[in-house]
Amino acid sequence: MTATDPDAAEATPTRRMSCTVNGQHRTVECEDRQLLVEVIREQLNLKGTHIGCLNGDCGACTVELDGRIVKSCLLLAASAEGSEITTVEAMGSPGDLSDVQEAFWDNDGFQCGFCLPGHLFAARDLIGSNPDPSDDEIRHAIAGNLCRCTGYQRIVTSIRDAAARARASGA
Ligand code: FES
Repeated sequence: MTATDPDAAEATPTRRMSCTVNGQHRTVECEDRQLLVEVIREQLNLKGTHIGCLNGDCGACTVELDGRIVKSCLLLAASAEGSEITTVEAMGSPGDLSDVQEAFWDNDGFQCGFCLPGHLFAARDLIGSNPDPSDDEIRHAIAGNLCRCTGYQRIVTSIRDAAARARASGA
């Protein structure tokens, strides 16, 4: 194989990318064209961030990037250089769920769990800025996150409950 061989496979450019993920400094080797969601799942082994549509419609790949909710299938991993990323794993863990996760659990707000990253981040963001949201406001806040199991009502109920818990605890 020579550099002038038209059938020669192009080597895929790679780079080192460093960022803070769930409070830990991480450096990974990734391809220039690799999506952030792919790096989060494969190189960082954080499988709670899901791959659904890969075009920004479903929200399964949602993470926080420098404090903003983003769909990680719409970003190249390289663009996250130096950023702070929070994935759904940082919200809580079995036996130590966050209040929002508890509310989803208690109200059957999720079933298969595939859409959870988007709904949980949207819920947390909404409650942080609007402690007593109406159902319409909740539905507006979760727009862009698709759920094929619950019909959304249980998610709305869960977020309303999560907001009530936050108010009760003074959070
Ligand atoms: Fe990113 Fe669906 S996989 S929005």
